[in-house]
Amino acid sequence: LEIALALVIGYLLGSIPFGLLLTRAAGLGDIRSIGSGNIGATNVLRTGNKGLAAATLLLDAAKGAVAVLIARHFLGETPAMLAGLGAFIGHIFPVWLGFKGGKGVATYLGVLIALAWQCAAVFAVLWLSVAALTRISSLAAIVATIAAPVAAWILGDSVLATVVTLMSLIVLIKHRANIERLIAGQEPSIGSKT
Ligand code: G3P
Repeated sequence: LEIALALVIGYLLGSIPFGLLLTRAAGLGDIRSIGSGNIGATNVLRTGNKGLAAATLLLDAAKGAVAVLIARHFLGETPAMLAGLGAFIGHIFPVWLGFKGGKGVATYLGVLIALAWQCAAVFAVLWLSVAALTRISSLAAIVATIAAPVAAWILGDSVLATVVTLMSLIVLIKHRANIERLIAGQEPSIGSKT
C-alpha cells in the first residue's frame, strides 16, 4: 500500500506540466507547437524567454525532489525511490495531456538530487560540460543520462540503481527524435529557434 501511495503522490506531482502552464500564462501560446514541441525547459528557451525557461527547469526538477522528500518523510526510503519514479513517469506520461509529456531530463535531475546526490553531481557535471562544449541540450542530456546509472551501480544500492537505470532507459527512448537529428547533424544549438 505504501508503495502504491508513493507512486500515486509522485505521479500527481510529476504530471504538473510547468513548461506548458508557464508559457500559456505568459501568453506565448501552446509550447507544443513551438520548436521541438516538447514541454521542457530547452524548448521553452526557444520562445526567447530565458526567465520562463529557468523557471521551467527549476519547477520540473523541484517536483521530482519534492515527491521524494514527501514520501521519505511519511513513508520511508524505498517508497521515496518509488515516489521519485512516479514523478518522473508523471512528467513523461501525464494523464492531463493525453499521456504526452516531456522527455524527463529536469525531473530526473530533481529526483536524483533528493535520492542520491552523488549521481546528481555526476549528471550535472556531465550535462554542463557537454552543453558548454557542444551547445546542444539533448546531447548533454544523453551523455549525463548514460553516466548516472553507472554512478548508481557503483554506489551499490541495487533498488536505487534499478530505478535510476529504468529512468535512464526512458529518457533515452524519449530522445529518439533528437538522436536521429544528432546523427543527421541537424540538432539545433541551445537557444536557437530552428
Ligand atoms: O530536456 C530535453 C532536451 O534534452 C531536448 O529538448 O526540446 O531539444 O527536444 P528538445
